[in-house]
Amino acid sequence: MDAMFSSCGLQTLPTEFAWSPPCLRALTAIQRDFEIDDEKLKRIAARFEEELYEGLSKHGENLTMEATWVHGLPKGTETGSFLTVDLGGTNIRVCWITLRGRGCQPEIVQKLSHIPEVVKTGEAHQLWGFVADSIDHFVRERGLHCTASSPLALGFTFSYPVRQDSLTNGRLKTWTKGFDIKGVEGEDVVSQLDKALRAKDLHIDVVALINDTTGALIASSYMDAETVIGAIFGTGSNAAYMENVGSIPKLKTPLPPDTPMAINCEYGAFDNSHRVLPRTKFDQMIDRDSPRPGEQTFEKMSAGLYLGEIFRLIICDFHDHGLLFKTQNVSRLARPYTIDTAFLSALESDTLPNLVGKFESISGVEATLGEVQLLRRLAEVVTTRGARLSACGIAAICKKKGIREGHVAVDGSVANKHPTFKSRWAKALAAILDWQSDRERDPIRMVGAKDGSGIGAAVIAAMHLRY
Ligand code: BGC
Repeated sequence: MDAMFSSCGLQTLPTEFAWSPPCLRALTAIQRDFEIDDEKLKRIAARFEEELYEGLSKHGENLTMEATWVHGLPKGTETGSFLTVDLGGTNIRVCWITLRGRGCQPEIVQKLSHIPEVVKTGEAHQLWGFVADSIDHFVRERGLHCTASSPLALGFTFSYPVRQDSLTNGRLKTWTKGFDIKGVEGEDVVSQLDKALRAKDLHIDVVALINDTTGALIASSYMDAETVIGAIFGTGSNAAYMENVGSIPKLKTPLPPDTPMAINCEYGAFDNSHRVLPRTKFDQMIDRDSPRPGEQTFEKMSAGLYLGEIFRLIICDFHDHGLLFKTQNVSRLARPYTIDTAFLSALESDTLPNLVGKFESISGVEATLGEVQLLRRLAEVVTTRGARLSACGIAAICKKKGIREGHVAVDGSVANKHPTFKSRWAKALAAILDWQSDRERDPIRMVGAKDGSGIGAAVIAAMHLRY
């Protein structure tokens, strides 16, 4: 069993604590269902590449391959100070960013706040009121001046699928990452934010609406000319890269065919038609109980929001079959989304005795050392599959564009915080693209794009204002 899984990156752990035969059988079944061997990885990446083409050709495909109206990479000479707002899946971050050109680290003054649950599932006016309030507090606290004659320029990073026909507007197609706010889908998010800002008498103009992946691509290119792709492996999952307008048949525009255009792939929706991804019953349960069933199939199997939940569903299943926590009260564990990916990271990095305490504080369940060791094994199974799938989208972009070397600029909690995600991802990418992985020297490798969303928004604002 171990040999079978070591090929796809699972560590071989000594079985210090004996698991019962039924438990071992259940574990073997889970490992089999979650295993994606190298051949399967290649098939997924090949289908991924087809979906990239389909999304560029026609509207209404799984991958919406959104044109971002960001025409080209920065030169590295863009400078100035910009207000940015980054509305992600978990937090809102308001920043004042000063760009000093390639070679100098941008200066960031920022305020991070958690997005309350009531906002995530409320009404449009609550969301935009919350965003405008966050900006208002920040602007006041920092003593930033904005008047009707001298408004502040804002770069707005909105990390959800929007259809844009310019850099300064975008209609939300659908909420992702568990958001379910009424009155925003189908609407222009810039107009809605604008209205909320005006209501507070804030003279702030949105000069760029961007996705976090475009932000990572542009922020990283600003400092590092070897950047080829921007990606997020965090609460959600997605990537952006550069195309030429002539390679986007669905785009009706008078722009010359060789005009560069950053594409936000929105590839969390890969395989929404269920042709290639090996979905387990747990993936199906997550989808069924999500606010948007049938959407974001790939994201629901690989992104941070869902990894902890897949893991929770598996351990509840073990409990239901009498294989874990036999005499314990599992009522807290039965609540959806009680386990986040941070705990899966801990499972693969902390000691077993420490994990007993951590698990109890999260779930109220007092697990034995043997049980925690089983949890560790299950976490490995779930996160290994996530890392390997995450390599497929990047490999597909590289194959489509004929990219043979360069940096994939990545931000997001899974990439930044999970102890083994990067090495498993690199190994899977190497398997798909047929090279022997040696992380430091891999021709295409992951580099950090920390704060990419904010810095990218500032750089794009600077590029736009220079136009
Ligand atoms: C969104 C993308 C975003 C990704 C990463 C997905 O759920 O649809 O727009 O880039 O999450 O944040």
